[in-house]
Amino acid sequence: MATTSTKPREQEHAISDDPTRSRTLPRRYYNDPEILEAELENIFYKSWLYIGHESQLTEAGSYITGQIYDQNVFLIRGRDEVIRGFYNVCKHRGHKLLEGTGKKPVITCPYHAWAYRLDGSLKSAYGTDTLPDFDPTDYGLTPIRVDSMLGFLFVNLDMDAPTFCEYAPGLEEEIRADVVQIEDLVLVEDSEGLALPGKVACNWKVLVENFQECYHCKPAHKDLCTLFDVANYGTTCYVNFTSATVPHTGKWDNDAYPITPDMAQQNGRFWFIWPNLSFTTIPGTPNISIYRVDPAGPEVTENWTQTFRLADDHSDMNEQRNHWGAHVAGVEDKELCESVQEGMRQRGFSQGRVVHSPDNDPVQAGGEIGVHWHNWKIYDAV
Ligand code: FES
Ligand SMILES: [Fe+2]
Repeated sequence: MATTSTKPREQEHAISDDPTRSRTLPRRYYNDPEILEAELENIFYKSWLYIGHESQLTEAGSYITGQIYDQNVFLIRGRDEVIRGFYNVCKHRGHKLLEGTGKKPVITCPYHAWAYRLDGSLKSAYGTDTLPDFDPTDYGLTPIRVDSMLGFLFVNLDMDAPTFCEYAPGLEEEIRADVVQIEDLVLVEDSEGLALPGKVACNWKVLVENFQECYHCKPAHKDLCTLFDVANYGTTCYVNFTSATVPHTGKWDNDAYPITPDMAQQNGRFWFIWPNLSFTTIPGTPNISIYRVDPAGPEVTENWTQTFRLADDHSDMNEQRNHWGAHVAGVEDKELCESVQEGMRQRGFSQGRVVHSPDNDPVQAGGEIGVHWHNWKIYDAV
C-alpha cells in the first residue's frame, strides 16, 4: 500500500544561508494554516510591530487601537504624558474595551462598566466591594511593550524583548540622514497613501517578497522604470532590517509622475523592518510612507498604509505621486501577488530559486537578496 507518511520537510530542498545557492520557501509555507500558526507564535507575537505615530496621541487619554492578527491592543497617553500599551480586553469577563481612536478620561468597559485609569489600574468595579478576597490590584490591564523611533510607535507582546533600538540598530540614523525633513513631516489624514490599502488574496509573505526586490521592475512596472534607474537598485541586509536605494533617472517628464531638478527628496529609499513593515521615501517633495502587511489568514493579507508629508505641501506632485503609487504600481503589484498565490496551489510548482549573483549584478536590478533574507528568517523561525 502506498504511504504518504514522509514528512514534507524531508521531501523539500533545504533553504541555504548562501543566497546564490538557495531555493525559495516550499509552497506549503504560503497556504498551510500550521505554518501561519507557527509564524504567529514565533514571529508576530515576539517582534516589534508598527502601530501608529506619536502625533496621534497628543493629550492625556488619547488612544489608538490596533491588532496583531487576533490580539487586540491599544496605546494610550497617561496624565504623566507616558504612552503605555495594553491588551484591549476587560479583566472582568473579556469584553473589548476601546474601538478605533479617540480620547477618554477613564477607560470604561461597555459591558458592565468596570473602569480603568490611564495607567491600566482598576479604578472601579461596581458590586465588587463586598466580594471576599477581591483585590483590585489583581485586575489591572495586561501591559504590552511600547517603543518609539523618530515618533513612530512600535509594540511588542514579548515583555522580555530587547528595545527597538537594540532590535534594529542603525535604522534611525539611516532614516534621519536620508529622509529630507523627517522631523517636520506630519501624518496625512485626508489623502490616499502611496501603497494600495485593503485586502489582497495572497499569503502575507508573497507581498513582502514582492516589496523586497526590483528584479520584477523591468518586466512588470514599465512606468516605474522611467522614474527609477532600476539597474542601480541596491539592497543591504542587516539582522532585522534591509535598506535599499534607487536613484531617479533624471527624466523629469517620466511616465510615473513629474519630478523637478530642485526637488528636495532625490533618491528612492526603501527600508524593510522584520517581519512586516516598510518605510519608503520616493523622489519629490519631502515624504515618507508606512506600509504594513498583516496576515488575515493563510491566503489573505491586510495592507495598511500611512503617509507623512510637510503640513503645507498641497503640491500637484504630491497628489500625482500618491495616485501613481496606489493606482498604478500598487495595482500592478496586487495582480502579480495574486497570481503567485494561485501558483502556490499548483501541483506543477514546489520550490523556486533565489536569483542573486555574488557581485550584486546590476542587470538583475540587485537581484533577490532581500527575498532570500526574508525566506531565511522565516525558515529559521518556524
Ligand atoms: S466584561 Fe468588562 S465589565 Fe464585564
Ligand atoms: Fe512591484
